[in-house]
Amino acid sequence: AKAKTNVKRVVLPEGDESRTIQAAAIIKKEGLAEPVLIGDPEAIAKEASNLGVNLEGIEIIAPCNSVKFDEYAATLYDLRKAKGVTEEQAKTLVSDPMYFAVMMVKLGDADGLVSGAVLTTGDMLRPALQIIKTAPGVKSVSSVFFMCMPGQTYIYGDCAINLNPTAEELAGIALQCDDTAKAFGLPSRVAMLSYSTINSGKGPDADLVKAATAMVKEARPEMLVDGPLQYDAATTPSVGSLKAPNSAVAGKATVFVFPDLSAGNIGYKIAQRLGGFEAYGPILLGLNAPINDLSRGCNAEEVYKMAIITA
Ligand code: ACO
Repeated sequence: AKAKTNVKRVVLPEGDESRTIQAAAIIKKEGLAEPVLIGDPEAIAKEASNLGVNLEGIEIIAPCNSVKFDEYAATLYDLRKAKGVTEEQAKTLVSDPMYFAVMMVKLGDADGLVSGAVLTTGDMLRPALQIIKTAPGVKSVSSVFFMCMPGQTYIYGDCAINLNPTAEELAGIALQCDDTAKAFGLPSRVAMLSYSTINSGKGPDADLVKAATAMVKEARPEMLVDGPLQYDAATTPSVGSLKAPNSAVAGKATVFVFPDLSAGNIGYKIAQRLGGFEAYGPILLGLNAPINDLSRGCNAEEVYKMAIITA
C-alpha cells in the first residue's frame, strides 16, 4: 500500500532474464513501482513472448543506445579516475547493464535497483560499493534477510556480505539490523548468535560476540540486545529461561545477528530449505541508495517482492 501511494522507479539490470521479466510485468500491472529493464530490447521482447508476458508500458533501455550513455561514462570516469579508471574503461563499464543501472541510481534517473538473479553477490555489489558508496556516518555495508512464514517475520543479518567481521563490525551490523526492524515496523529484540550462551562456552569466537554485544549496549543503551546466545536459547522460551534467565531477549528474539558469513549464509538457507521460511534478501544496509541483491536460486515472486521492498 505504501509503495502504491508513492510510485518509485526501480531499475532491473538483468532485463533479459526470465524471472526478472515476469516480475517486471506484475509490478507494472499492479502499479507497485515503475520497473525499467536494461538490456537488448529485441532479446527482451523475444524472451517475453516465449513466456507469454506483456511488457506494454515498461521502459527498456539498451545502454549503448541510451541518450545518457556519454553523461554516465563521463561521471563514472570522474568518480573512479583516482582509482585508475581511464575514459575508455569508463565507457566499457557503462556499456555493462549493472554499471549502467548503478549510474541511473547515482544520477537520480532511478530510485532503486534490484539484481542478482544471474550475477553473483560480489559482482552485483562491487559497482554499488564503488559508485553509490555508504550513507553518511556508515562505515560498512551489511545486509539482512526477511525470513517469513504466515504470522512470523524474523530478520537475519549479515548472511551475504561481510566474511569475518571484527567485534566493531559485528556491532555495526547489529545496529543496522535494529534500524531495519524499526523501519519496517517489526519488533526488535536482537540476539547476537554464537555456539555459547552468556558464559557457557569458551573461545575467541564467543569472546568476539561478547565484545560486540557490549559495544552495541554502550552505543544504544535502550536497545533490546543480548549475547552471546545459542540459536535455541534465542528462540525457545523454555531454553532461554534455563540458559539465560536474566535476559530480555532470550526465548523471544526477533532479530538474529550471525557471527560470520559462513554461519549466516548456511543458517538462512537451512531455515529456508528445511524450515520452510520464505527468505527475502539480501537487503543491503548502509548504502547511499536502495540497491538490493537476489539469490541466484530465486524465483519470479522473490524478484517481485524484492522490487517492492526496494521501492
Ligand atoms: N562496506 C562498504 N564498502 C565496502 C565494503 C563494505 N562491506 N566492502 C568493500 N567495500 C568497498 C571498498 O572500500 C572498495 O571501494 P573503493 O574501490 O572505492 O576503494 C570497493 O568496495 C570494492 O572493494 P574490493 O575490496 O575491491 O571489493 P571486494 O572484492 O572485497 O568485494 C564484496 C566486496 C563483494 C562485498 C566481498 O566482500 C564479497 O565478495 N563478499 C561475499 C559475497 C558473497 O559471496 N556472499 C555469499 C552469497 S550471498 C547469497 O547467498 C544470497
